[in-house]
Amino acid sequence: MRVLVVGSGAREHALCWAIAASPLLTKLWCAPGNPGIAGVAECVDIGVLDFEALVAFAQDNQIDLVVPGPEAPLVAGLTDAMDAASIPCCGPTAAAAQLEGSKTFTKEIADAAGIPTARWERFEDAEAARAFVRRRGAPIVVKADGLAAGKGVVVAATEAEAIAAIDSMMDARIFGDSGASVVIEECLVGEEVSLFALCDGETALPLGSAQDHKRVGDGDTGPNTGGMGCYSPVPAFPPGLEEAAFDRMIRPALAEMAKRGMPFRGILFAGLMLTEEGPKLIEFNTRFGDPECEVLLLKLKSDLLPALQAACDGELRHFNLRWNETAAVAVVMAARGYPEAPESGSIIRGLDRAAAIPDVTVFHAGTTADADGTIRAAGGRVLAICATGPTIEAARASAYTAVKAIDWPEGFCRTDIGWRALARPA
Ligand code: AMP
Ligand code: GLY
Repeated sequence: MRVLVVGSGAREHALCWAIAASPLLTKLWCAPGNPGIAGVAECVDIGVLDFEALVAFAQDNQIDLVVPGPEAPLVAGLTDAMDAASIPCCGPTAAAAQLEGSKTFTKEIADAAGIPTARWERFEDAEAARAFVRRRGAPIVVKADGLAAGKGVVVAATEAEAIAAIDSMMDARIFGDSGASVVIEECLVGEEVSLFALCDGETALPLGSAQDHKRVGDGDTGPNTGGMGCYSPVPAFPPGLEEAAFDRMIRPALAEMAKRGMPFRGILFAGLMLTEEGPKLIEFNTRFGDPECEVLLLKLKSDLLPALQAACDGELRHFNLRWNETAAVAVVMAARGYPEAPESGSIIRGLDRAAAIPDVTVFHAGTTADADGTIRAAGGRVLAICATGPTIEAARASAYTAVKAIDWPEGFCRTDIGWRALARPA
């Protein structure tokens, strides 16, 4: 098979790494890719939103399967563009990607499908939204309805904070039209977990779960990020609970989407809160999580490529994936200043030394390479240092040994990835 992966982060590096191991693969490309990805795929300099160029490339190179990584091209219609050219693409159409692109849409699907989620209300009028907050009181959650690069959610501890969020989203339009309407919802309390499924429109195949660390600082402090590290399995989310959540959230969502004439194909990601009343849906995303993808693919024993192809062909009901009984941990290294203003251009050394440590895999998230091969930081999240092991403790120890092997004074990471798992009584 000839495969094109779309994206340039550690998630796409992990996807390329897994696909490159498939005996079914003839040739692998990645657009635009990164220097880490260049080790397993041929990188082509096409942006993820340049659909015309991506379709032309796929046609010229007889691509058998397109594998999109990030949400932006999906929400903008990459799958539709590929469908129109009869090129199989393992992602949702723009209509189905509303599950990630619109908070209101997600809430409507959740309510229609009977999926447990926070109580919510939508507002197009800022004054009505402020009045609602004054009536309900804090804590309360304010969300811009559209995509806001992961920054459109404010978990407000006080009424004033909630009202300031409404002011900036709806009046000042800091996220543009994404803030034309807001969803205000009940604040859920508990541990968060990310649950994944590969879907073919009808059948959902479990891809496992992981716990992310969204805040930039140790002890879950500081601003939200794309994710600073994660681990799997999650002791707070044992297999019985995971299967129950899959049946209560993923399967009904898939059925509801099919019923509405927008069957969901691709990777469905449910962000859950493990509340005292059981798991509740926080949000759906229509793609793999990053860094969740990295740890889950490290645990996957089966060949990923035929599963992705089966998802495109509507053949997943014949499929079963096998998993290694290992634990896996990802520690993200970010550039100083992330998430507000990451510094670019600093030199990173010791990557080979880190990757040579047993059980360690280093994925590139935001790097560039000079002509002489020197690797430099080029983004917020720069590396995902991953390791497997018999326990989370062992995997985490290997990942941090690898972090120490990397010589990059301008980078930083959280030092407590996995703390919730380790704090739990055995
Ligand atoms: P999102 O940008 O949609 O991934 O949301 C960012 C974060 O906001 C989530 O990971 C949760 O930590 C938090 N969050 C969103 N909705 C709620 C809610 N209803 N209750 C508590 N926390 C929430
Ligand atoms: N790590 C969370 C996400 O990818 O949205």
